[in-house]
Amino acid sequence: MITTGKYPNLRLRRNREHNWIRRLTKENTLSVNDLVQPIFIIEGKNKKIPITSMPGVYRYSIDKLNSFVKKIIDLGIPMIALFPYTENRLKDNYASEALNENNLVCKATKFIKKKFGNKIGVMCDVALDPYTSHGHDGILKSNKILNDKTIDILIKQSILQAKAGCDVIAPSDMMDGRIGKIRKALDKNNFSNVRILSYAVKYASSFYGPFRDAVGSKNLLKGDKKTYQMDFSNRDEALREVALDIKEGADMVMVKPGLPYLDIIRDVKRNFKIPVLAYQVSGEYSLIMNSIKKGLVDDKIIYETMTSFKRAGANAIISYFSTSIAKNL
Ligand code: PBG
Repeated sequence: MITTGKYPNLRLRRNREHNWIRRLTKENTLSVNDLVQPIFIIEGKNKKIPITSMPGVYRYSIDKLNSFVKKIIDLGIPMIALFPYTENRLKDNYASEALNENNLVCKATKFIKKKFGNKIGVMCDVALDPYTSHGHDGILKSNKILNDKTIDILIKQSILQAKAGCDVIAPSDMMDGRIGKIRKALDKNNFSNVRILSYAVKYASSFYGPFRDAVGSKNLLKGDKKTYQMDFSNRDEALREVALDIKEGADMVMVKPGLPYLDIIRDVKRNFKIPVLAYQVSGEYSLIMNSIKKGLVDDKIIYETMTSFKRAGANAIISYFSTSIAKNL
């Protein structure tokens, strides 16, 4: 690093004196192009149901998506991510509902793509947790999550989502080897243009609590996800995960959660020249929202946190704040 000069010749405050010079020397800017808006969907008609653990976030029935998605497009946000709330009666040990071509996610994807075409990208999670009776992302047998058996289902799930019109397949399950197998299957089924955003670096985190409530898996989850999601003490392992997923064909990679893992975003971006997305997850959202509501902090912290992701090196941010922050950009 080259920094020449010293005080009193050098005064770094000169570049902070006025708004114009601060703008001129700004290093990172958040724009609407950097945002992804997650949407929770629910069966039924004319429903917009508040999620208690996530103030200001709702579950929408498909008919209600029309106006919400239109609003998101008008704001200039490039992509949405769909997450289904699945009724318990549809859940089983094998996540059968994941392979129902008319499940909520597939129906919603078809609806949005028919209405809005390529005005917005649709990203779908590939993992079994919204559909399993035990809340895990894979098939559970004798207290173990079966890697390869799970991948067999994830492949089929990916193809169904691609058939429905999904633009970005986002495996969030953390099984070994799934990116390569999903890529191969997509190509074989004439979906070579469907992208894969790998949740390459996904830590076993307590920040996912409100999300699990939102998709209805919280009370079902047996144990934790430590045998497949990463240990939050680890840094080198994150780079190994990313390296593998790139080799297997990932077009973009994700780091998740967001704010406590800015160092990892930075490492990934420095080591791999690939689009990196940060996921500001549900627990981060709810902590911030509740603190704002209590008047403990100003709502400007939303913008501050999201700019921090850009500074760390993220190309884009998946955040429940996307729509609200986009209005101010
Ligand atoms: C499911 C999935 C999770 C999230 C995204 N996809 C939860 C989990 O792995 O338990 C978390 C998102 C959030 O907390 O906002 N595999």
